[in-house]
Amino acid sequence: MYTDTAGEAEIRAAFPQALAEPVEAGWEDRWKAFHRPARAGGLWIGPPWEPPPASEPTVIVDPGRAFGTGAHPTTRACIELLARLERGSLLDAGCGSGVLAVAAARLGFAPVFAVDADPVAVAVCAETVRSNGVHVQVASADVLRDELHRTDVAVANIELGVVEALLVRLPAPTAITSGYLEAETPRVPDWEPVDRLELEGWAADVLARRH
Ligand SMILES: C[S@@+](CC[C@H](N)C(=O)[O-])C[C@H]1O[C@@H](n2cnc3c(N)ncnc32)[C@H](O)[C@@H]1O
Repeated sequence: MYTDTAGEAEIRAAFPQALAEPVEAGWEDRWKAFHRPARAGGLWIGPPWEPPPASEPTVIVDPGRAFGTGAHPTTRACIELLARLERGSLLDAGCGSGVLAVAAARLGFAPVFAVDADPVAVAVCAETVRSNGVHVQVASADVLRDELHRTDVAVANIELGVVEALLVRLPAPTAITSGYLEAETPRVPDWEPVDRLELEGWAADVLARRH
C-alpha cells in the first residue's frame, strides 16, 4: 500500500506491527511502463503515448489513478464477450477508467451509460469518453444502492460478492460479469449462465435472466 506521512501514522495506529519503507519519487507514474497495448473483441486498446494502428478501431485509455488499462484478463474477457452479443443499450457498472464503456460504444452499443462509486473513476471515465470521441453518459452511483439505468446489457467487472449482490437488483435481461477467478461463478437465483471465457486464471460470464 502507498500512503503519505499522515496515512502511515493511521496505519501504524491500526496495525502496530506494520512495516514501512520510503518509495522513490515518481512512483505514482511508474505503472505507465507496464501499460502496454492489448487487443480484444477486434479492438486495439492502448495508452495515449503508444502509436495506434491505422487499420483497427481503437480505445485509448490513460487510467491515471482509476482501474482499467484494458490489458487485465478480466477486462479483455469482458470485451471479447461484449463483441459476441447483439448490440443494444448498455450499462457499465463500476466503470473505472471507462475502458469497457468506450469499447462497448466502439462495438456499436448505444446508448451507453457508465457509473462508478469512486469520484476519481468518474472523472477519469469522463475524460476517456471525451478523448475517444464517443457518446457515453457518465455518472456517480453506487451500483448496490442507487437507481440503475434499464438497459439491454449490463457489464460489471468488479468482484464476486459485489457482482452477485448487483445481479439481484439489476434491471437488465443480460449481464456480463467478471472480477473473479476461474474456479468461481456468480450464483444468483433467476440468472443462468449462457457463455463463459477463461483467461489467465480469471473468468468472465454472460448470464441471462430467467423469465
Ligand atoms: C476492477 S475495476 C473495473 C474497471 C473497468 N470496468 C475494467 O473492466 O477495467 C472495478 C470498479 O468498480 C468500482 N466499484 C466497486 N464497487 C462499486 C459499487 N458498489 N458501485 C459502483 N462502483 C463500484 C470501483 O470503484 C472500480 O472502479
